[in-house]
Amino acid sequence: MQKSELQIFLDIGELLSLDGAVRKIGRHCDESDLSIIRDAVVVCEQGQVSWIGTRKQWESAQTEFGSQKRIEHSLGGRTVIPGFVECHTHSVFAGQRAEEFEWRVQGQTYLEISKKGGGILSTVRATRDASYEELLNLTQQRANRFLSQGVTTLEIKSGYGLDLHTEMKCLKVARALRGPHIVTTYLGPHSKSPDFSSLDEYLEFIVETALPQIVQENLADRADIYIENGFFSVEQGRRYFEAAKRLGLKLTAHVEQLSLYGGTDLALELACESVDHIVFINPSTQAKLAKSSSVGVLLPMADFYLDMAYPPARELLDQGACVALSTDFNPGTSPSQDIDFTGLLARIKMKMTQAEVLVALTLGGAKALGLQDSRGALCAGYRCDFSVLRGSWRDLFYSIGQNSIAQVFIGGVEQKISQ
Ligand code: NIG
Ligand code: FE
Repeated sequence: MQKSELQIFLDIGELLSLDGAVRKIGRHCDESDLSIIRDAVVVCEQGQVSWIGTRKQWESAQTEFGSQKRIEHSLGGRTVIPGFVECHTHSVFAGQRAEEFEWRVQGQTYLEISKKGGGILSTVRATRDASYEELLNLTQQRANRFLSQGVTTLEIKSGYGLDLHTEMKCLKVARALRGPHIVTTYLGPHSKSPDFSSLDEYLEFIVETALPQIVQENLADRADIYIENGFFSVEQGRRYFEAAKRLGLKLTAHVEQLSLYGGTDLALELACESVDHIVFINPSTQAKLAKSSSVGVLLPMADFYLDMAYPPARELLDQGACVALSTDFNPGTSPSQDIDFTGLLARIKMKMTQAEVLVALTLGGAKALGLQDSRGALCAGYRCDFSVLRGSWRDLFYSIGQNSIAQVFIGGVEQKISQ
């Protein structure tokens, strides 16, 4: 059998492997769990890390690799971190909602604007009108913007079609993107579809027609639903999840974003991989989440844009929950793709430590997507997805508005990024 060639990355001043965080499955992590290796070497084979250690260890270990062809890359003494795993975005949409944002600034609430046909439904109109090519073009630019910030795995939800044709168009766009590894999520139950007279009728259509077809065409990896006062109820959520689970999809949910509504308890009962937003989660559910295998996905930019409370991150982390951070990028509640600002808000508004932020944006995001054994850390057997920083990792989520990423590699291959 022909042996594959080895990509050897040398001259790494500091490498954050997150090996400690992997062993703790992202719980109770501190700086020591970043598992920093100084003067590190990474060996990549067929897109995976096959060896990692110090330069000194490499001197003796390299004999194990025998006569395999080697290509060496110097990383110039810089710092290397695992690629970010952006686990909650609504990146496929057309149009924008700048006018509504002004209304919100003037005092109207998100729910008031939704009730008069704005909000999600205004993006639905624009997205239905856009062609596949237009959407692909827009979404590719957004994926490139994430990539330049060091995002190597990107989750993308549908949810701005609310009819089968447009939902499928959006999921096909997500599947066709170049760059980061993409995970797709069907979010048909994002809001009542204008084509149905009630939420129950729309849900019936989703369960009987839309979900089976989307699964049949392999367009979605996961199923998501917006459980909230004025949107879908807990019982509707149960019906949807049971149907999605039977079809083999992984589950996730938008819960407790605007009010305490009971969605998190349902999601934990049904072992959703992640429970997202959780701003209004109550103390007994916090404790339940911390003991569960579900990840709490915190989306502080949405809370910032809505000028609301933030999730109880400290309580969750101190009880041992695994948490992730993500942008929630969408045209309404979080019209920004800024990873640095997400991390900064987590530090200022949720009192997360810098190490907790780093774990949440990498291994936490990977676990939220069920990918914690292959992404979100740099250990043997993991995908060789990483970023090279311009400065120290300590500069991250501190000053914002300056690109801290110098180079991005996916599967050991350098990506073209816009600076
Ligand atoms: O995650 N809450 C529901 N979905 C989005 C907002 C969607 C929109 O306003 O367009 C969110 O915040
Ligand atoms: Fe969201």
